[in-house]
Amino acid sequence: MPARQRIAQEIEREGGWVPFARYMQLALHEPGLGYYASGARKFGPQGDFVTAPELGDLFGRTLARQLAGVPGGRILELGAGSGALAETLLKALDCEYLILETSAELRARQRKRLGKRAIHVDELPEKFHGAIVANEVADAIPVHVVHWNGQGILERGVSADFRWVDKPATGPLLEASREIRVPVPYISEINLLAKPWIRSLVDCLESGALFVIDYGFPRHEYYHPQRSTGTLMCHYRHQAHADPFSRPGEEDITAHVDFSALAQAALGAGAQMLGYATQAQFLVNCGITDVLGEANLENALHYAPIASQAQKLLSPAEMGELFKVLAVGKGLDAPLLGFSSGDRSHTL
Ligand SMILES: C[S@@+](CC[C@H](N)C(=O)[O-])C[C@H]1O[C@@H](n2cnc3c(N)ncnc32)[C@H](O)[C@@H]1O
Repeated sequence: MPARQRIAQEIEREGGWVPFARYMQLALHEPGLGYYASGARKFGPQGDFVTAPELGDLFGRTLARQLAGVPGGRILELGAGSGALAETLLKALDCEYLILETSAELRARQRKRLGKRAIHVDELPEKFHGAIVANEVADAIPVHVVHWNGQGILERGVSADFRWVDKPATGPLLEASREIRVPVPYISEINLLAKPWIRSLVDCLESGALFVIDYGFPRHEYYHPQRSTGTLMCHYRHQAHADPFSRPGEEDITAHVDFSALAQAALGAGAQMLGYATQAQFLVNCGITDVLGEANLENALHYAPIASQAQKLLSPAEMGELFKVLAVGKGLDAPLLGFSSGDRSHTL
């Protein structure tokens, strides 16, 4: 039975209406049903989207320069996708490499690619010393959708025939929505689940740093008056669109990340702020130009693809400005290389 029909049945079973976050959970992550849990190709030119590690190894080799400076000798990667970043980091660094991946299908792909070099874990390790990396994972955490209108604050949910249906917001969602000042009418997302997620990461970290890399903004930009229809985006065969009901279970659904919310939750859980910067600034600080300089400038066949990766990673029109790096941690004495210049953590 197609995923669409099975998700409709699930919504019926749950009373004919589910919060959008539940729909996003079903459509992305539900074992045997969701987009990440299924056999869709997802990554790379033949898939639906390209992430920084999928462009080539420039991102990973540059990130490795930062990770080498985090004591502990261990890396924990969350949501490792095709295993591309793990492969590059394992080549560049002598470390123990753990992966926590929620999709069984992607775990199998990662095992095939990485063999015994990476260790898959089913839950967060206790008392972890080292670096935790989450590249484009936070944007896949299911979000609630809120509609502030003249009458009040409504929660947007999904009916079994895949339509938006609003109900009065209640509980923690209502509380969180009241803290956000927006002109009405206004629709946007609130990621209630991101807070326990980042708290659990901070709790498991005994010493070291957690890097969250993703597209998003500080809160004042996220809930900007002009962003009045929110940030939900779907990706199918390299086309981006904003209708999350067009191919449930067969395409990626994402929301931008509210980095202020992540930072506040992390600091509230006892982490120190280590830095927040655009991806371009972070990679430049880590020495991406030195990594580029290692390429053979004489040989256009070798240099052109790497230069093209640099352009995509750094250009403000591509990933350079929209993507950010947030680092929080515990017990580190020295400042991190990636934030040596242009740290914008004061904007969070
Ligand atoms: C957009 S992909 C990014 C993959 C990879 N990090 C990259 O940059 O190419 C999201 C990944 O996160 C995984 N994922 C989603 N939620 C997760 C969670 N809560 N914990 C761990 N992995 C998760 C997905 O299965 C998938 O591997």
